[in-house]
Amino acid sequence: MRILITGGRVIDPSQEFAGRADILMEDGLIKTFARDKKLKGEDLSGQDRIIDAGGMWVIPGLIDMHTHLREPGYENKETIRTGSLAALHGGFTTVCAMPNTNPVNDNPGVTEFILKKARAEGNARVLPIGAVTKGQTGEELAPFYMMREAGCVAFSDDGRPVANPIIMRRALEYARGLDALIISHAEDPLLSDGGVMNEGLLSVTMGLKGSPSIAEEVMIYRDIALSELTGGRVHIAHVSTMGGVRVIRQAKERGVNVTAETCPHYFSLTEEAVSGFNTHARVNPPLRTHKDVEAIKEGLKDGTIDIIATDHAPHSRAEKISRQFDDAPPGISGLETALPLSLALVELGVLSEMELIRKLTQNPAKALRIDGGTLREGMSAELAIVDPQRRCVVEAGENFISLGKNTPFDGMELKGAVIKTIFREKVMEWQRA
Ligand code: DOR
Repeated sequence: MRILITGGRVIDPSQEFAGRADILMEDGLIKTFARDKKLKGEDLSGQDRIIDAGGMWVIPGLIDMHTHLREPGYENKETIRTGSLAALHGGFTTVCAMPNTNPVNDNPGVTEFILKKARAEGNARVLPIGAVTKGQTGEELAPFYMMREAGCVAFSDDGRPVANPIIMRRALEYARGLDALIISHAEDPLLSDGGVMNEGLLSVTMGLKGSPSIAEEVMIYRDIALSELTGGRVHIAHVSTMGGVRVIRQAKERGVNVTAETCPHYFSLTEEAVSGFNTHARVNPPLRTHKDVEAIKEGLKDGTIDIIATDHAPHSRAEKISRQFDDAPPGISGLETALPLSLALVELGVLSEMELIRKLTQNPAKALRIDGGTLREGMSAELAIVDPQRRCVVEAGENFISLGKNTPFDGMELKGAVIKTIFREKVMEWQRA
């Protein structure tokens, strides 16, 4: 089976290439990457399929290093099938599944279950992230070696912080021996103290308990310090604060091998989005202030923040709609809006097209030391075709494939749409309103 994509503007940071190119794929692999428009020596007759990408961007399939797929255990929120299909819908061909399932992915049995199920579905590559501690209780380390052997690409207790510093120290030491990445959900639970939104004037006015920025900042500081001490590699998840960006920037200036991600909601929205007790804007860490949003953008621009991840956190309608703000679970369904929200950074002059795509492809691949996120010849054919001008209104109920319809962007018009996603031999065409 051969597929030719022709006439598009190809952006592939792994080859430092942005311009016209044609791409020929055969049997699920990229056979020829033709920069000079012409496929020399290729017999183009009898192509199985020719896709005209005129006016479109052709980019490597995006890699989301922070996705909650919910299976096993919370299949009412999302399944491996719906989550991985939603990923393709959003232009992601690789998603890393966080371990806060039920049972927790803290042993090779669960890791193997996820991998087997994902392979059977064949929608996007699903790479499991194992728990740092058994049951994510923060007390006893999970069996990293066996889980790594089973296919875990990193370790994290995401959803919960590793509160005890000695456990984090040991995790980093252990991970170092395996060259595994530890992903830090940076939150000091004593400082966040059950806060449900950003701490500030607005939380006081709304009568809600606030979670201060410092809860994130001190934990980022701690985990970077422990990484320096142990030589274990740490990645800071969902950075939301100005202070957090500053701490990471200073560490990088010292030469610490730390990577960091933020999510589209942290550069698109402020705490104001929770006004009216909008549970769809409840997320952890919470949405912050205008100053924080600007600092996040600055961090993206100067390279302090390497990666854009979704923190796709689907929840059921019942949990989000029928509960009081304090009782509604935190999280935003993010896979299907991440790309258009991120494209706004190009429009705003924060990132170039190349840098934006790099933060969604090459950088997560590098941090995780996995392949993918490239259109190089010989690699797996995983790519997205994007119309950067197309405007679409987010209609989660109608258009999301994810079971999680929980998004504060519902009803908003966003610019940029994924038109097709190619995952190996599968070509998905998306209907856009
Ligand atoms: O908002 C969030 N939701 N933050 C997390 O860290 C966990 C996630 C979830 O699992 O729902």
